[in-house]
Amino acid sequence: MADEPFQTIIEPFRIHSVEPMRLTTQAERVAALTAAGYNLFELRAEDVLIDLLTDSGTGAMSAEQWAGVQRGNEAYAGSPSFERFRDAVTGLFPFRHVLPTHQGRAAEKILFTVTGGPGRVIPNNTHFDTTRANIEFTGAQAVDLPIPEGLQPALRYPFKGNMDVAGLDRLLAERAGHVPLVMLTVTNNSGGGQPVSLANIRAVREVCDRYGKPLFLDACRFAENAWFIKTGEPGYADVPVAGIVRQMAALADGMTMSAKKDPLANIGGWLALNDDSMAGQCRNLEILTEGFPTYGGLAGRDLEAIAQGLSECIDDDYLRYRVRSIAYLGEALESAGVPVVVPFGGHAVFIDARALLAHLDPLQYPGQALACALYAEGGVRACEIGTVMFGLRPDGTEVPAAMDLVRLAIPRRTYTQSHLDYVIEAVTRVASRAARLPGLRIVSQPRQLRHFTARFAPLH
Ligand SMILES: Cc1ncc(COP(=O)(O)O)c(C=O)c1O
Repeated sequence: MADEPFQTIIEPFRIHSVEPMRLTTQAERVAALTAAGYNLFELRAEDVLIDLLTDSGTGAMSAEQWAGVQRGNEAYAGSPSFERFRDAVTGLFPFRHVLPTHQGRAAEKILFTVTGGPGRVIPNNTHFDTTRANIEFTGAQAVDLPIPEGLQPALRYPFKGNMDVAGLDRLLAERAGHVPLVMLTVTNNSGGGQPVSLANIRAVREVCDRYGKPLFLDACRFAENAWFIKTGEPGYADVPVAGIVRQMAALADGMTMSAKKDPLANIGGWLALNDDSMAGQCRNLEILTEGFPTYGGLAGRDLEAIAQGLSECIDDDYLRYRVRSIAYLGEALESAGVPVVVPFGGHAVFIDARALLAHLDPLQYPGQALACALYAEGGVRACEIGTVMFGLRPDGTEVPAAMDLVRLAIPRRTYTQSHLDYVIEAVTRVASRAARLPGLRIVSQPRQLRHFTARFAPLH
């Protein structure tokens, strides 16, 4: 007899230890925001009630991961913790070389130091901020090639994270000699956490083959991506998530990875690839900046936590709950009339701040203004993904980003449904007075990755 499915999709874990949160008053939050120069990265985490700044490194580890931490072997070279880590990685991504790094951007830094440089061009469905910055830092150009549907927040379209394959073909036809590799980000974080279909990965691979270019995955959210393939792409419903991940990996020549996302670890990452000569160059750079290649900037205990996390994040019950909890938040905001990116992605709900704060010009930073208002209202910290993050070009000029979004990223296994209910109430309250929210101007900013340290002041 088949089990009768329940309507309620519960958190598939019990709470094992708790971390108290501090409730603040609105006056305290406004003071903290002013002191932070309206930059939410400058806030003290203890002044934040519900922290949706990122899903990166903020998840709760399982009892088995903590047990792994105890088993960590801290040998400088040849640690068995590295072997467990490498076996867990290659069990899903069977690349010949696996180089652990302290986080994803360290893998990017190594990869693009080897492959980037002035005159080079690196296409991606959408580069994440650190990927773009690491490419541009070498003097190379980072090109985004999302499908046009991926740039329309209100359009319901499956696999909106896909790459524009014809656009890639055109780019390679014109400039193949300048392109060292092609990247695909799964899921497409900056494009709304939207998944990429296996059909699209296969089509990108086919174009790469025609021009003799390697394909690298930026695979931070590979498990969520695989779940969307399983549940939304015809032909995969009966394929286990691990099998789908292996099919994704088989279409690529390498990957960069942040273990702080789907692998459920608080720190870590890796660079994996097949090419022996490129791997040799990367390994030398790794020793220079990260450490010996069997620890790569991590403690043995971190490698254990990642290895265990990799087996937990591909579990069907976990992924069903994960994707459902994001949709729960998204659906509630949508029915309250808040413009959100649809369909809902795997790790976050994205509010269309350009639509909600339509009275503001993109260069008055509607996303940043909305994120600040949300913190002042309810102590909820979100992240602008828009003109503040992407609007400053390497030559110092400023242009509106393709979209001005506010990302409510949900840490893994950390918040419960009542926390999300509180977030829904806070966002709805802010949305009801969105037309009166003031824009912001930049008071000071660095030349790169400005969103982390820029300071702002309200436009009155
Ligand atoms: C798609 C994507 N790539 C790369 C990174 C960089 O990873 P890390 O923060 O571990 O350096 C992130 C982090 O948010 C990301 O979302």
